[in-house]
Amino acid sequence: MSITLSILYLIATITFILGLKLLGHPETAKKGNLIAASGMGLAIIGTIFLHELDVPNFIYAIIGGSILFGAIIGWLIAIKVEMTKMPELVSLFNGFGGASAALIGIVEFGHNMGSTTQLITIIAAIVIGSITFSGSMIAWAKLNGTMWKDIRLPKYNIINNLFFLGLLTFAVFIVYSDTNNNLIIYALLLAALVYGVLFVIPIGGADMPVVISLLNSLTGIAAAITGVLYGNMVMIVGGILVGSAGLILTFAMCKAMNRSLGNVVFGAFGGNETAPTETGKKGGTIKKTNPSDAAVMMNYSDKVIIVPGYGLAVAQAQHVIHELEELLTKKGIEVSYAIHPVAGRMPGHMNVLLAESNVDYDKLIDMDDINPQFKNTDVVLVVGANDVVNPAAHNDPSSPIYGMPILDVENAKSIIINKRTMNPGYAGIENELFYNQKTSMLFGDAKATIQELLSELKGMQ
Ligand code: TAP
Repeated sequence: MSITLSILYLIATITFILGLKLLGHPETAKKGNLIAASGMGLAIIGTIFLHELDVPNFIYAIIGGSILFGAIIGWLIAIKVEMTKMPELVSLFNGFGGASAALIGIVEFGHNMGSTTQLITIIAAIVIGSITFSGSMIAWAKLNGTMWKDIRLPKYNIINNLFFLGLLTFAVFIVYSDTNNNLIIYALLLAALVYGVLFVIPIGGADMPVVISLLNSLTGIAAAITGVLYGNMVMIVGGILVGSAGLILTFAMCKAMNRSLGNVVFGAFGGNETAPTETGKKGGTIKKTNPSDAAVMMNYSDKVIIVPGYGLAVAQAQHVIHELEELLTKKGIEVSYAIHPVAGRMPGHMNVLLAESNVDYDKLIDMDDINPQFKNTDVVLVVGANDVVNPAAHNDPSSPIYGMPILDVENAKSIIINKRTMNPGYAGIENELFYNQKTSMLFGDAKATIQELLSELKGMQ
């Protein structure tokens, strides 16, 4: 490898690390993304033009054409995608990363010169890449609602574990049999694809973000393995960074939901309940309110906490909620936002959404810091959030979310919940908070309802 290319790879590696660091804060995240992407661009261009390879010109044309085609499609998707659809897109990208690693494995199997280490790397790239690809495609279908049911085969845990052991045995057999039969490698590819489907298909409800993050980490590991195959430092470093960042996020989310990774992967969490009605399972009934009454309650309070959730993102109500917060602040009311780590549909969803409408970062308070404040709060306004405020996590040992840390909004003096219907949230379970005597349900689309609330408040002294 030329010295210029080595230096380019070193620069690219530094940009990945710097980019990752800057991604840690909403204010610098955009810059971090651009820096890491430029480093990646540099590494790709350097690899194409500075590698000592003797290839005919038409190969450069194919590579250039593919990059242009991929870049245009990627750009079009990225500018069109809505914030609420980002997790699906991430899942799709994870899948493509895995597919690339598996395809590299298939191609290099044909070139393998008999080195066992190389064969192990090839097999690992095929297995991990294929599991990531098919698993991510299922996750994508679940997130966009195409596959809305969690499919669980009878004794699915045993079936999955046996299948996985069979897959590993098959992979080890290929390494030791030292075969160069292409059919056997396609059989391994197929088996790994099937396992990816079996692995993700029973998982649902609130556990999906953890699975996405785990698959993201597997994409990184697959990329690092292909880097080892080619002895390419920048692929190894990039892959390890994605792999380890994905794992850290996976464990952070497990912690936020008070579940172990094993429990998420083998526990098959999912909501199979029937839709709640205006009378709760425990007998309570809901109390309805309207924007005018809700405005009066807020106007005469000293402290208000806003709890944003997925519905706020769907309704694109981030700008109007910021206007409401500014108006309340002008009226001398203390306002902050309570941010649950898994509110919305992707990590940091609420932070990014509110940052888009220029909400002051200091007003976004993390769960652990805001929970003790609810007892001194006059009004909590929950906008399009459901699972993250469900007290069943504390009170109901039979609930699938039991033990998950939640925002303790029930400790506030009064609670206003804005959503459109009595339908459950992502986890598909009834929320006993709706039947609490301190709660008033403010039904309607978040954007339109908060707009009305704002108009009412503007007309008040
Ligand atoms: P959810 O529990 O999903 O509740 C969202 C609520 O928003 C729904 O009950 C829905 O009720 C309401 N809603 C939808 N559209 C609305 C609109 N236009 N206006 C007003 N309300 C609207 O959301 P959450 O509390 O943010 O909890 C997040 C859940 O998603 C958790 O279970 C979490 O584990 C899971 N999850 C999180 C992530 C990450 S990493 N954040 C990723 C995937 C899944 P109506 O239909 O009645 O309006």
